[in-house]
Amino acid sequence: MTRANGMLIAIDGTAGTGKSTVGKAVAARLGYGFLSTGEMYRALAYSVFAKKIDPADHDGVLAAARVLRFTFVRQSDATLKMFVNGEFLGPKLHLEEVGNVASQVSTNREARLVLTEKMREVGQDGGIVMEGRDVGTVVFPDAEVKFYLDASAQERAKRRFKQLQEAGEKADYNEILRLIEERDFRDKNRATAPLKAAEDAVIIDTSDLNLQQVIDAVLEKLPHHAS
Ligand code: DC
Repeated sequence: MTRANGMLIAIDGTAGTGKSTVGKAVAARLGYGFLSTGEMYRALAYSVFAKKIDPADHDGVLAAARVLRFTFVRQSDATLKMFVNGEFLGPKLHLEEVGNVASQVSTNREARLVLTEKMREVGQDGGIVMEGRDVGTVVFPDAEVKFYLDASAQERAKRRFKQLQEAGEKADYNEILRLIEERDFRDKNRATAPLKAAEDAVIIDTSDLNLQQVIDAVLEKLPHHAS
């Protein structure tokens, strides 16, 4: 073991594949922390939005990234609760609009470097499951174990549609599918750190698997896992 607190486990993949739920469950099982790096891009998006900065304004977005102060407090469910400049933003970060702006600001190369440095500080000692788009390829190419989760856009749209319906919210399947495809395209085709599986990642297609099956598939691939 090369890190003080255990392995660095990277889980990357497209939006809506259950990376967070799976990562959290795996972290809890191992007694590790769990960090969703997308939350940090969402925090940047939120700040850009609040300051009325154009997401395409390179210098404006970079300046906003530089003044974000992240602190993380470990919770009983393994999650690292994120505070941004002392504030817990919570559910505000999960609005559909914030996700879209996050995908736009995350094309900013310099702003990515700022956030990537922060992720490295948080994860370098290991004992953590880190979920995102480029954890195994860019943030921690030396991660001990890497996973890449994927599922068809139709299946992910179906899941999101069901979630919204169950929450009693308005949902339009075709619009959800369109947004998912748009986000995939942007995440996979940006010049810096595009979404792709690391060469040494274990690829799991979750289209026909339930969450427990995905969690089991991940645990099975871990060296000496304690199940
Ligand atoms: O996982 P998420 O939906 O919360 O991520 C929001 C956006 O942040 C996503 O569209 C792309 C970006 N992101 C990224 O570029 N790199 C990461 N490691 C995590 C997220």
